[in-house]
Amino acid sequence: MGITNPEQDISQILFTEKQIAARVEALGMELTEAYRDKKPVMVCVLKGASFFYIDLCRQMRCHLDMDFLSVSSYGASSKSSGVVRLVKDMDTDITGRHVVIVEDIIDSGLTLSYLRELFQSRRPASIRTISFLDKTARHPAELRTDYCGFEIPDEFVVGYGLDYAGYYRNLPYIGVLKPEVYRA
Ligand code: IMP
Ligand code: MG
Repeated sequence: MGITNPEQDISQILFTEKQIAARVEALGMELTEAYRDKKPVMVCVLKGASFFYIDLCRQMRCHLDMDFLSVSSYGASSKSSGVVRLVKDMDTDITGRHVVIVEDIIDSGLTLSYLRELFQSRRPASIRTISFLDKTARHPAELRTDYCGFEIPDEFVVGYGLDYAGYYRNLPYIGVLKPEVYRA
């Protein structure tokens, strides 16, 4: 892991700051149309979705509630442990509410199905999911999100909230992490 400059560990930029902003603006418009009179509860899955979540909510021109939860499945590795754990729950009562779960990236789809099941048991009016990125080749089609920023190939990416071992979240773009960084 580069000590002074995280950018030296990036092999390729997949989406620039500008491309991200344009896509998030379009998604915000789409969600505004879909949820105009629904006062949705927008749920941020910490920490990875944080940048996307804030930018997305800011682009929505309708009433909405904001809340945050945290799950853990990875630890400090680039491979999923296969176990999802609720680390911090949200405060909002979602009974009868329209819920939008905001995720950073869908890989195996395990986190997403865990959250869908958990939320279903709380009797909301509806649940939809939105993920900034989706590695579609890594999971069956039924685990796709309702809304997605970009579909990407099976590479380990960081930036715009996404981390490796806690770092690189603050890069303003989405970049591919050099494999030697996580194989080291
Ligand atoms: P899933 O449960 O396998 O779908 O994994 C979802 C979680 O794994 C995401 O919320 C991320 O925290 C993490 N993850 C999966 N792929 C990547 C990646 O390429 N970069 C950074 N984090 C990733
Ligand atoms: Mg993560």
